[in-house]
Amino acid sequence: PEAITVQELANRMAARGGEVVKALFRMGVMATLTQSIDADTAELVVQEFGHRVKRVSESDVEIGLEGAEDTDTDLQPRPPVVTIMGHVDHGKTSLLDALRKTDVAAHEAGGITQHIGAYQITVPDGSKVTFIDTPGHEAFTAMRARGASVTDMVVLVVAADDGVMPQTIEAIRHAKAAGVPLIVAVNKIDKPGVKPERVKQELLQHEIVVESLGGDTQEIEVSATQRINLDKLLEAISLQAEVLDLKANPNRAAEGTVIESKLDRGRGPVATVLVQKGTLRQGDIVVAGAEWGRVRAMLDDKGRQLKDAPPSLPVEILGLSGVPAAGDNFIAVENEARAREVSEFRQRRARDKAAAAAGAGRGNLTDMLA
Ligand code: GTP
Ligand code: MG
Repeated sequence: PEAITVQELANRMAARGGEVVKALFRMGVMATLTQSIDADTAELVVQEFGHRVKRVSESDVEIGLEGAEDTDTDLQPRPPVVTIMGHVDHGKTSLLDALRKTDVAAHEAGGITQHIGAYQITVPDGSKVTFIDTPGHEAFTAMRARGASVTDMVVLVVAADDGVMPQTIEAIRHAKAAGVPLIVAVNKIDKPGVKPERVKQELLQHEIVVESLGGDTQEIEVSATQRINLDKLLEAISLQAEVLDLKANPNRAAEGTVIESKLDRGRGPVATVLVQKGTLRQGDIVVAGAEWGRVRAMLDDKGRQLKDAPPSLPVEILGLSGVPAAGDNFIAVENEARAREVSEFRQRRARDKAAAAAGAGRGNLTDMLA
């Protein structure tokens, strides 16, 4: 692997040399500014500073700031990842269920659908769409707080008979804060006497201007239960995906985010992960949060065993040492030694953070008593 001096690394991250020396010290590496460290160590430092690392090939790591990504020629189109949000009882689950039934690939699967937090469907034109099912607002907030950006767009479900409600507004705020485009699905239009026009007016007050009012937010009137305009909603999603020009490099070590996880009595720790870059393969050694392990088995949302998972595919993985948290990053690494190293580094960092938080708590208490 390539080496880099501590000073050069600090320069590339626009960080102080002393801060980098300190970070290295915490990792158990003693180095001065002029000394060189290997690429693997540099990568850990870069991650600690909140930057991304560009892996040019297996052995060669280039240190880059946020935004330094795979080159254009590495990138290939990937399916959009869509999160459905909206107020209680406005029909999110019904809509997800209805969309899932449009999956033209579902019939081949033999009908066993797993209840995992994310699934991918194939639409009639052959393209694919990934839906994330778990995020109530809290899960979405937690993921954002961890710096995980998992969704490419939000479908905002607003019931035509109820209109814009508190959680609708919250969802709009989340989407705006995350810089993610919205598509409005005005649901329950099958109900007698409903006025979808009213919803558009209410949305205006929250700076969502739908296309029919001259804005640029797509809006589709649907009925989840009567299966009205589901095709139009899917078209709107694919149009938005085209605008976003979503791409990823499938030919590299996998990286992504934990969507949900649990301890299964029979199977041990089970994590649903969304592959965001690279291809995850059965047998890969991965670190998820501070847990690690060899991917013993990989299943899709239809319960099928997979050998490999490309970008935007959510899969359940078995074989981790423990249960990571939703929003945790996962990466595939070269070997077990490296997995242990990254895992220990992350555990140490988590302990440091907890200690710092506890320290701050004591300080406040002292202040209060003083
Ligand atoms: P929470 O998960 O509790 O926030 O609710 P939700 O947004 O997932 O709503 P859900 O899909 O559970 O639907 C709530 C109720 O609205 C159910 O009784 C549905 O049958 C009904 N519903 C959902 N979509 C439609 C629709 O298009 N038309 C009609 N008439 N009823 C619908
Ligand atoms: Mg629901």
